[in-house]
Amino acid sequence: MLIASLAGAASAEIELPPGPDRDLVYGTCRTCHDLQYLQDSAGIPESAWSELLDSMKQYGLRIPPDRRARILRYLGAYLGPNPPPASSVAAVASAAAPADGKTLFNEQCSSCHQVNGAGQPGTFPPLAGNPDLMLAPHFPVFVVLNGLQGKITVEGKTYNAQMPSFAHLSDAEVAAVINYIREAWGNDALRPADMSPLDDAAVATVRANEKTPDEVHAYRASLK
Ligand code: HEC
Ligand code: HEC
Repeated sequence: MLIASLAGAASAEIELPPGPDRDLVYGTCRTCHDLQYLQDSAGIPESAWSELLDSMKQYGLRIPPDRRARILRYLGAYLGPNPPPASSVAAVASAAAPADGKTLFNEQCSSCHQVNGAGQPGTFPPLAGNPDLMLAPHFPVFVVLNGLQGKITVEGKTYNAQMPSFAHLSDAEVAAVINYIREAWGNDALRPADMSPLDDAAVATVRANEKTPDEVHAYRASLK
């Protein structure tokens, strides 16, 4: 399977320069490969990025036109021939709007789990109606910060792929996206009454306790 053979856990650490829509690039481009390809191609103009994206259609890259335009603006500006100096980049990053779970989900997670949370049977597990989200207060935080690898069964279907780490998200962003998936698509009905929404501090605790994707898999099994 493409995702298993190309997504490399080791190089999931590559960080692109912060800028508007960087998260959209992460969410879209890491579906098939890590960011090494992007870093290696940095310095080319937007028109050349556009040709590259066209050439990736043969591998199955499908992006709606509005997202494609935003991705190209990011690539042309931040991985283009004239990237802005690091100091102004930092200013853009710190001026970012407060975390919105739904927007983050749609940009980071929906390329695999789908906007409606239904996933793709056999490839990407559903999050809608998935009681695993409530296995333990911090379980989804471990998945999002570290990734997950190994055979799992969800709603009677088997999955054996790899989810990449999203450790580039801030504590507040991770909390917001998980609070969103525990509430969206009717999932609030699965949520135990004593499971309160996550805050930044809860995510920071999990971040300090780093696991490999395999260890997250073992942790998941221990909760079943
Ligand atoms: C559907 C799968 C898929 C997605 C999604 C995808 N790519 Fe790729 N990409 C590939 C494959 C497969 C290759 C390897 C092609 C090769 O080795 O010749 C590749 C190669 C590349 C390369 C290297 C090309 C070269 O000739 O050196 C770049 C740069 C790249 N991708 C950028 C991106 C960007 C930017 C995104 C996000 C907008 C993206 N890719 C999303 C499948 C994908
Ligand atoms: C590149 C595709 C991809 C993206 C993007 C992605 N995931 Fe996943 N996710 C997976 C795969 C594949 C699995 C199952 C891994 C396995 O087979 O062990 C998974 C599993 C999960 C699980 C565990 C489900 C269970 O039943 O135990 C959660 C929770 C989750 N993802 C949340 C998210 C969130 C939140 C995001 C966005 C921040 C996200 N995922 C983005 C592919 C992805």
